[in-house]
Formats: sequence, structure tokens, C-alpha cells
Amino acid sequence: MDILKRYLFLYTRHRGPYFLGAVFLIATNAIALAIPRVFGWAIDDLEAGATRGLILSYAGAIVVLAVFQTVMRVGSRIFVLSVSRRIDYEMKGMLHKRLIHLAPSFFAATNTGDLMSRMTNDVMLVRALGGPGVLYFFNAFVMYALGLAYMVSISWRLTLVVFLPLPIVAVLVRILVHRVRDYVTRARIALSDLNTIVQENLSGVMVVKSFALEEAQNLRFENQSATYMDFGLREAWTRAQMIPVVGLGGGLAAVVVIGFGGRMVSAGDLSIGDLVAVMSYVGVMVMPTVALGWILSLVQRGAAALERLDEVLVAPVTISSPDSARPIGDGPLSVVIKGLNFRYDDHLRNYGGILKLDETFESGRRHALHKIDFVAKEGGYVAIVGRVGSGKSTLLKAIQHLIEVPEGSVFLGGVDVVEVELDELRQRVGFVPQDDFLFSTTVFDNIAYGQPDASRGEVDTAAQIAGLLVDLECLPDGLDTVVGERGATLSGGQRQRVAVARAILIDSPILLLDNALSNVDAETERKILDGLRANAASNAGRTLVVVSNRIGAIQDADHIYVMDEGRVVNHGSHAQLIQRPGLYADMFEQQRLSAELEKL
Ligand SMILES: Nc1ncnc2c1ncn2[C@@H]1O[C@H](COP(=O)(O)OP(=O)(O)OP(=O)(O)O)[C@@H](O)[C@H]1O
Ligand SMILES: [Mg+2]
Repeated sequence: MDILKRYLFLYTRHRGPYFLGAVFLIATNAIALAIPRVFGWAIDDLEAGATRGLILSYAGAIVVLAVFQTVMRVGSRIFVLSVSRRIDYEMKGMLHKRLIHLAPSFFAATNTGDLMSRMTNDVMLVRALGGPGVLYFFNAFVMYALGLAYMVSISWRLTLVVFLPLPIVAVLVRILVHRVRDYVTRARIALSDLNTIVQENLSGVMVVKSFALEEAQNLRFENQSATYMDFGLREAWTRAQMIPVVGLGGGLAAVVVIGFGGRMVSAGDLSIGDLVAVMSYVGVMVMPTVALGWILSLVQRGAAALERLDEVLVAPVTISSPDSARPIGDGPLSVVIKGLNFRYDDHLRNYGGILKLDETFESGRRHALHKIDFVAKEGGYVAIVGRVGSGKSTLLKAIQHLIEVPEGSVFLGGVDVVEVELDELRQRVGFVPQDDFLFSTTVFDNIAYGQPDASRGEVDTAAQIAGLLVDLECLPDGLDTVVGERGATLSGGQRQRVAVARAILIDSPILLLDNALSNVDAETERKILDGLRANAASNAGRTLVVVSNRIGAIQDADHIYVMDEGRVVNHGSHAQLIQRPGLYADMFEQQRLSAELEKL
């Protein structure tokens, strides 16, 4: 319940409308309880032989009270429920703001489905706690307080007797509440898994189809959905049992009232009207008691939801702009890395609560980067080659400060990246990732994504450098051709070159390409890279860092780094490297041979 205390501010900052809602609610309940009292008086007066006029005025009073009660009830709901909507809005805002600033490593190990279920389902529970939860809790409380006061004023002895069956009911309700909580937890885990299945099946729909896994995935969904339904049903079933349990309490109380109260009436200690009034109070108080069980479960579910939202809200923003940033300037920039070590799992541990790291998570435990020293002079063209999984992409992430690099390890233009404002950094460093991502709009808009006000001529030039001109001629509307979702209507090589053109257009002093041309043939890759370099040289020196699998494509680079298992195992120019026995010479020889074989 500590969590409720911590997030109490969500609710208390709306104390104004809550207060008004409470006032309306007290009025509602006071009237609800006054009606049985008036009833009791009416009965006693009837017995004493009341006039027609008196009876009519009793009836009139009851009608007026009922109308007034309805108005008050609507008012209280409007105030309290509008607060709950605001809480929903504020909570979602807090979550989204946090999520969007969390480091890529957070998303690498969290399921989008799970995050979506927190954003929707858990926020809804927090809202329910602040709206209906508060409303019904307060309602029950006021109902009890006022009901008791009325009953005591009639007969304190009868009031005491009425509550005799209470302990039995309390024990039963407690057992049920425990069970409900258990089912709620399990249902929520099942829902999160269900969301993950849907999200993965939809975004990976092509893979599902190409492996003909539609039926298998459907079955997986069905099973998970059934599990979710099952826990939901059990929860509803258990909760439904509370109504008869509380009803039983009400029934027992009524028996006691009739038995004990009847004796009091015969002894002349109580009027029949008073007895009827007390009976009605018992009836009126059964509903709030049922609601109390429900409120308990709302509180439990709300607290559990807050715990899960808290995991996101306290997840550290490990990469943020420094308090006092140092500018890196406009001119050409060098990239220098000194003794950089990096392991993925050190950073994932920051998210302890939310990520399920298990023993199978082996890859993160190794050093993805080990004592890396790297230099790309301003305006230079540097290439990185190496086996799969050797840390090339990780190195490019380090240059962009997309992973949590230690202070004093990565420098752009002589300034430590951790001291650079993130916005400025993103402007200075252009990047084409290994997996291109296109938006479902025109080729033009895709290229101009980072520079929406670019002119047609600028976009054309970028497309030309990226080697897209011939392809554009074949597209139905040239630059204005609309591509499908994620660029599905373009070929893999075309998509990659659109992504390259997008980065060229930004005209950043540093440009990083991560195997960005792997889907075009070696010859074209080399041509594009050479064109990029010529353009960079004429453009006041853009620094080019290119990761490629093909030695043939990058052999003109000023300097080449060879990586293996997270280390730089060799570096130098192409001419130097092929002289030295090792990974580079081997890769070169292999690729040369296979190219020759292809020619045969
Ligand atoms: N988000 C991540 N979490 C944990 N481990 C990771 C993550 N990304 C990469 N790794 C691991 O770090 C190592 C280096 O990966 P990296 O992506 O840098 O290799 P790469 O050289 O770019 O490979 P490729 O040529 O296949 O693109 C690999 O062992 C990989 O399994
Ligand atoms: Mg890579």
C-alpha cells in the first residue's frame, strides 16, 4: 500500500472537485436515509388515524426528497468521474513522456505488447480507483455513518443487535477478496502476453505467412485468449459470490430485527413505524456493503496497476542531455574513441523491475565492445569491417550516444559526447541503420523526412548521390510514388537507397552508414560510396564512417578498422591490410575468389 501513498498526489491535486463531489454525495445519502425515516413517521401517524391531508403531505415530501436526491447524485458523479478522466489523461502523459526518453536498451528487452497493456489497461485501473473507487468508498462510508446515526437515534439496543451477524460476513468476504486478487493478477499477466502475441503477429505478418504459420499462430492466440478469459470468468464468479454472502448478512440482520425488534414493539419500547424504519435502513445498507467488497478489489487492482506503471516511471533515463551542454560547432568534425568498453547487460540492469533478464541472456554478458580505440579525422572516410556480431553496429551506436557510453570515451570534434546536447548531436550525426525504415508516404517525403522544407532540387541531388535516379524513372510517379507500409512496394535495395538519400539530405558533418547498402550489388555499393565521398569532400568535409560486409566496396577508404569479437584486431589502409596475414586478408581473399567464381 506504500505505492498508493507515493501516488496519492495524482488524486489529492484534484481535491477541489473531490470536495464538491463529496458535498453532493453526503446530501444524496442524507436524503436516501431520510426517506425511510419519513416512512416510519407516516406509518405511525396512519396507525394513530391520520387525516387525508397529512398523508398527502407525507407523500409529497417523499417525492420532493426523491427528486432532490437524484439531482444531487448526478452532481456528485459528474464531479468525481470528471476527475478520474483527468487522472487518466495526466497518467498517460507522464508515461509517454518517460517512455519516449528511455534509452534504446530499454526497448530492446521490453515487449511492446506489455507496454501497450500498461498504457491502456493499467491506466484504466488507476482511473477506476480515482473515480468509481473514491465515489463508492465515500458513498459507503457516508451511508454507514448516517445510517448508524439514524438507527442509534431510534434505538441503540436494536442497532447493536443488527450488527451481530457482521463478523461472519466479514470473514467470508475476506476469503473471497483474496481469491479475487489472485485471479486479477493472473488475468493481467495473461493479457499482457496476449497483447504481445497480437503485436508480434501483426508486425511480423510477412514472416508468419512465409513460414505458413497462420494456423499455428492462431492456435497460440486462441490458447492465450482462453487463458485470459478463464481467469476473467473465475474472477467474476468469485466476485459474484460476494452478493449472496452480503445478502445473507442482510437477511440475518433482518431476522434479528424482526425477532428482537418485534419483542420490543410488544413490550411497548418501540413503535411499529420505528421498526419499519430500522428494517429499511438494514436494506439500504446492504448495497454499500456489497460495494465495499468491490471497492477493496478496485483498491487492490489499482495498487497493482500503479506498481506496474511505477516500473516505467522510475526506469532511469540513462541517456539525457547534460545540464550544462558544450556545443560541438558547425564545421567538419572528427570522431575519436578512446579505450571504450561496453556490455549490454550492465545497462539493462538499470531496468531491473520491468525487464525479465534470465540466465539464457548470454550475449549481453559478453563485452560487445572491448578497449576500442578509433579515429576518423574530420572530412575523412573510414570503414569498419568484421564478422557478424563483432560489434560494428554497437560502435556506431556509441558514436551517436544511443548506448550508455562512459564519460571520456567518445569525442566528436574534441567534445565528449556525454557533454553534448542530444538535439545538437542528432543534427550533427546522420545515420542510416542496418534495417531501413520507410514511412507509408511518397518517396519524396521519405527522403525529406529529416528536412521537411527541402526543395525538389535538393531531394533530387540526394537521390542522385544515393544512386536512385534510374529506379525513380521506373516508378510510376517518380519521386511522388507512394510506397506501401514500411516501403513494402519498393525492392530491398531501393528502400536502402531511399534511407541513404534521407541521411545525405540532412547534410550533417558526420555520416554513419551501417551496412546500409547490403542489398545492392557490390559494384553499385562501391559507386555510391565513392559518390558520397566526392560529395562529402566538396561539402566542406563531411566525415564518413561506413560499416560494410564487402571489402571490395570500401577499399578506397582512408582507413579501415577490422573488428572481431568486440575488439579492433587490425587497422590501416587497404593496401597495408592485405599485406598482413589475418582476418582482413582472409576476408578479402574469400570475397575475391567468390566474385571470380560468380564470373565463370
Ligand atoms: N540490444 C542488445 N542487447 C544485448 N546484446 C546485444 C544487443 N545488440 C547487440 N547485442 C550483442 O552485441 C554483440 C555485437 O552486436 P552488433 O550488433 O554490434 O554486431 P555487428 O558487428 O553489427 O553484427 P552484424 O554484422 O550482424 O550487424 C553481439 O554479440 C550481439 O548479440
Ligand atoms: Mg550490425
